[in-house]
Amino acid sequence: MQQQLEQTYQQALADLEHIQSSDALREWELKILGQKGAITLMLRGIGQLAKEERAAFGKRANEVRDLLATAYESRAELVQEHELARSLEEGQIDVTLPGRAHPTGGLHPSTQTFRELYRIWGDMGFQVFRSRDVETDEMNFTLLNIPEHHPARDMWDTFYTTTPGMILRTHTSPGQIRAMRELGAEGTQPIRVILPGMCYRYEQITARSEMQFHQLEGLAIGRNIRMSDLKGTVTEFARRFYGANAKVRFRASYFPFTEPSMEIDVECFLCGGQGCRVCKYAGWLEIAGAGMVHPTVLRNGGYDPTQWSGFAFGMGPERMTMLKHGIQDIRYFWSNDLRFLEQF
Ligand code: DAH
Repeated sequence: MQQQLEQTYQQALADLEHIQSSDALREWELKILGQKGAITLMLRGIGQLAKEERAAFGKRANEVRDLLATAYESRAELVQEHELARSLEEGQIDVTLPGRAHPTGGLHPSTQTFRELYRIWGDMGFQVFRSRDVETDEMNFTLLNIPEHHPARDMWDTFYTTTPGMILRTHTSPGQIRAMRELGAEGTQPIRVILPGMCYRYEQITARSEMQFHQLEGLAIGRNIRMSDLKGTVTEFARRFYGANAKVRFRASYFPFTEPSMEIDVECFLCGGQGCRVCKYAGWLEIAGAGMVHPTVLRNGGYDPTQWSGFAFGMGPERMTMLKHGIQDIRYFWSNDLRFLEQF
């Protein structure tokens, strides 16, 4: 047993020298010094020895236990130091690594176009007037000189609500009536407004038409406002939006709420009028519908058409954005695909 004690002692010391982790250290402690450890068991088995051997063995065994306990303590200190050093090293911040960027949001391409339009029209003296998306049939059609059952209603495929007489506006033009009534002070004040907003049409969705899209309406009411004012204003707008060399042309057209009515084209800024795929080889791009406000519409807004006149126009920000960036499909605008949106 004496010999076994010395052997265990040497072996335990040797093992301890190789221990690198606190887990292994704990295991060693259990095996050697724990309740059922080798040394503890030997001390307990002392009674099996001959009486005269007991004192000497006991003394040595206690000595060995204390020596091992001391060796254990100093090893434990060493292992802890190493582990701390290692974890500090591993957890160290490498300041030379590139940082992780925060994902940032961006403005929707239509919002960007709208903001540019607000800036330009604002500089030209037009204020923003917001009108409602859910409209009455009367505002959207009747008061704009499109009576019930009139064939001109065919121009707008309409979303009806379950409330009779309530629809989703098919264009921003009903805002003209609201602006005249709210800002005109019973037909006594001139007004210059732009009316931005979403419009809705019950249409087949294709690359060229969506069932929802924005419009920017414009309306100027005053005394002696003439066709030349409309032409000059729109030409100036085109120069500010498309560049100083922008050319515009006016084509006769028809809208129930204007007389005369026209469509406005700008010379294709991609090919300079030479003809290309975007302008479909016409050399011109259609950017707006416009005209002189119809006397009936003026009257419905509270103005006396013998004293007051005005012009109006309606343009499509999505269409303008598509032309500007060569976007081929209007469906990208509301499909929430970040790969599209992040490009702007
Ligand atoms: N409201 C028309 C549409 O949606 C666009 C329009 C044409 C607006 C002529 C106007 C205008 O103000 O004068 O098709």
